[in-house]
Amino acid sequence: MQTPTRDESMTFHPKVSIDSPAIYYYYRQISEKVASMYDRKDRYYQKAKNEGFASRAVYKLLEIQKKFKIWRAGSTVLDLGCAPGGWLQILSKELGPKGKIVGIDRLPLKIHLPSNVIFIQKDFEQDLTADLEQALSGQREVDLILSDLSPDISGIAFRDTYRSYELSLKVWQVAQKFLKKNGHLVIKVFPGREVDDFKKELKKSFTRFDTFIPEATRKTSSEVYLVALGRKII
Ligand SMILES: C[S@@+](CC[C@H](N)C(=O)[O-])C[C@H]1O[C@@H](n2cnc3c(N)ncnc32)[C@H](O)[C@@H]1O
Repeated sequence: MQTPTRDESMTFHPKVSIDSPAIYYYYRQISEKVASMYDRKDRYYQKAKNEGFASRAVYKLLEIQKKFKIWRAGSTVLDLGCAPGGWLQILSKELGPKGKIVGIDRLPLKIHLPSNVIFIQKDFEQDLTADLEQALSGQREVDLILSDLSPDISGIAFRDTYRSYELSLKVWQVAQKFLKKNGHLVIKVFPGREVDDFKKELKKSFTRFDTFIPEATRKTSSEVYLVALGRKII
C-alpha cells in the first residue's frame, strides 16, 4: 500500500466524501461554528485594542451596566481581580472625579493609574481588611463590589469550579464587611453544585438576584455572572 503524502492524508477519504449532502452540511455547520467563534474572539479582542482598553472584559462590564444599572457617577466600587485593568478604565471614566475605585489583583496593572483609582497588588486570599480600610480612608462601606477573579485554570472541570466557588465565598465575606445596605454585588463564577447553594444565599441576602452571560463572553467559556442587587441588612 502506498503511504499517503502529507497533503493526501489531510483530504477526505472517498468513503466520507463531501459528495454526500448530509456529510457536506454537517462539516459546513461545524466550520461555520468554529469560524464564528474565532470571529467573536477577534472581534472583541481587536475592538478593545483599537479603543485603547486593557482587556476585552470591558465589553462584558458595559453589558452588565446596560442591563442592571449597577453604578452611577460618584459611586465607590471595589474591583476584585482587576488586572490588567480594563474594568478600572471604564469605572474611572464613568464614576468621575467624585467616584472612588479600589482595585485588587496579585498581578500588576497594564494601564496608567487614573487619579480616582487605588490599586492594591496582593493575593486576594490573604487578609485584606487593613488594606481596604486604609484605601477607603475611613469610609467603611462601598456601593458596589465587582469580582472578575478567575482561578488558574487546571482544565479539570470540578477542580476549577471548586476554586471559583472558594474565591466567591471569599468575595462574599468581603461584601459582608464592606458592602452598604442596598449596595450591589456582581461575581463571576463557573457553575457547579456548590454555586447553586451560594446562589440561594445571595437570593436571601439581596432584594433582586439574576444570572447573566454577556454577549462578549467567549463561547468556549462556561463563566456566568451572578448579579445581586440591593443588599438587605437584617
Ligand atoms: C479575567 S482577569 C480580570 C480582568 C479584568 N476585569 C479587566 O477588566 O482587565 C482575572 C484576574 O483575577 C486575578 N486573580 C485570580 N486569583 C487571584 C487571587 N487569589 N488574588 C488576586 N488576584 C487574583 C488574576 O490575576 C487576573 O488578573
